[in-house]
Amino acid sequence: MLEAIERVIFSPEEIQKRVAELGRQIAQDYKNSAAKDPYKRPLLVVGILKGAMPFMADLIRHMDIPLEYDFIAVSSYRNGTVPGEVRILKDLDRAIGQRDILIVEDIVDTGHTLRSILRRLASRDPASLRVCTLLDKPQRREVEVPIDYVGFVLPENVFVVGYGLDYAELYRNLPFIGVLKPEYIRASSC
Ligand code: IMP
Repeated sequence: MLEAIERVIFSPEEIQKRVAELGRQIAQDYKNSAAKDPYKRPLLVVGILKGAMPFMADLIRHMDIPLEYDFIAVSSYRNGTVPGEVRILKDLDRAIGQRDILIVEDIVDTGHTLRSILRRLASRDPASLRVCTLLDKPQRREVEVPIDYVGFVLPENVFVVGYGLDYAELYRNLPFIGVLKPEYIRASSC
């Protein structure tokens, strides 16, 4: 797999250091004032499959607070649908009314996916709804979305893989985040 990588943008060490910082900060915020559930139930961390899986697995182990987690899977508009239309393939197992929800996403690019997810979850009346993304590509944004926690802002407009992020379902298991060599990207993609 390594021969497909042109360069590494964030090393495993940089990622682990930043994820630990984020996890501690988020836990502190929920201990202080972010938790709004009138019944004091644990925070529900919601990972967006598949990309957020490695990030969320590391993040929650740095969050020293009671929490539960669940996942949702959505179909991306990249797979043939119109931007803004995101279909839920796997929904949350339980109702989230009056609960504190933290969405964990791999990357926010145009913002359409996150906006759609936020709208759907907000309509279920959670006590609070926050967003944590590992990566942010603000220069690509097409719709405004509120983001509470960002791991790294990508300094340039590049397509990245690794640490959960894929190209055609590959490279998710790389321990770093990097850029593919052009010859490994099919002309029809991106
Ligand atoms: P958005 O709806 O344009 O914000 O796109 C969000 C989704 O697009 C992410 O959850 C990723 O699955 C995918 N995506 C966007 N940029 C990248 C990238 O650089 N590498 C891998 N996947 C990406």
